[in-house]
Amino acid sequence: MAPMRDFLDLSDAGGDALAAMIADAIDRKAARQGWPKGRADADRPLDGRVLAMIFEKNSTRTRVSFDMAMRQLGGSALILDGGTSQLGRGESIADTARVLSRMVDAIMIRTDDHAKAQELAHHADVPVINGLTDRSHPCQIVADLLTLVEHGKPLPGLEVAWLGDGNNVLNSILEAAGLMKFNVRVATPPGYEPEQGFVDLARRGGANVTLTQDAGRAAEGADVLVTDTWISMGQEHARTKLAAMAPYQVNEALMARAGKNAIFLHCLPAHIGEEVSLGVFEGPQSMVFDEAENRIHAQKSILLWCMGLLD
Ligand code: CP
Ligand code: NVA
Repeated sequence: MAPMRDFLDLSDAGGDALAAMIADAIDRKAARQGWPKGRADADRPLDGRVLAMIFEKNSTRTRVSFDMAMRQLGGSALILDGGTSQLGRGESIADTARVLSRMVDAIMIRTDDHAKAQELAHHADVPVINGLTDRSHPCQIVADLLTLVEHGKPLPGLEVAWLGDGNNVLNSILEAAGLMKFNVRVATPPGYEPEQGFVDLARRGGANVTLTQDAGRAAEGADVLVTDTWISMGQEHARTKLAAMAPYQVNEALMARAGKNAIFLHCLPAHIGEEVSLGVFEGPQSMVFDEAENRIHAQKSILLWCMGLLD
């Protein structure tokens, strides 16, 4: 059995482990087709194990998918809400990590500052998983990669176009690009480019990364168009961004410039009429609900890898 490990960013796993996660997710998903959603997989690999989930930001998909993932693996999950736990009254991350390590088998945290997730991992004796920080959203991208592979889009050499805000989700896509050898065309308004460190990481891994302010240029012939909200959690004051983002909406005209078999992805929640038009969101190229469902299957692989049960 492999050692227990944290999953704070995709590089913690690396390309081979990500490929193993995707393959395992495909197998487990196929093996339980048609089953009730809460029934455990036949092997119950996390029988009796408990995941604690700390939420300092809102969530629907991450919360439900981790809970259902634990049930399907034979374990269970509990929630610590930032506002009602002692974390919300100033108990330190270090003490929280040490207490939870005595009580549960793994911890997932969704928070603002990435350093908090790192501090939690530093002080915890059990695996810590990043369920989104202001810097990255690695679990989402495992589900996205799974969705691409499932839809007949092998990752090496794939042309992925990102439209809109250079945010946490894009940072993780760039990290994945270097690990899985696909290319990313990033179209953002000036001032909203992704963190340079993630661009460098992707390029060092061998990915072609194009940074442009021209949405059409990014979309031209692409295999995948991806976007996300223009206002991430914690940026609610920044409504002035909307005007700058308007030319980057993924709409029918932009989709028409992508490859004939291109698909549309969005991590959700979506803002129809802002980053995506109704026609694209509801259209035949949109795979957003497969992508959302795949959060469960991806989380299961991530959990197994963290617990040392997948290599
Ligand atoms: N995509 C995603 O992480 O969704 P939630 O914010 O609902 O968890
Ligand atoms: N970029 C978004 C993703 C939500 C799942 C945010 O951080 O709010």
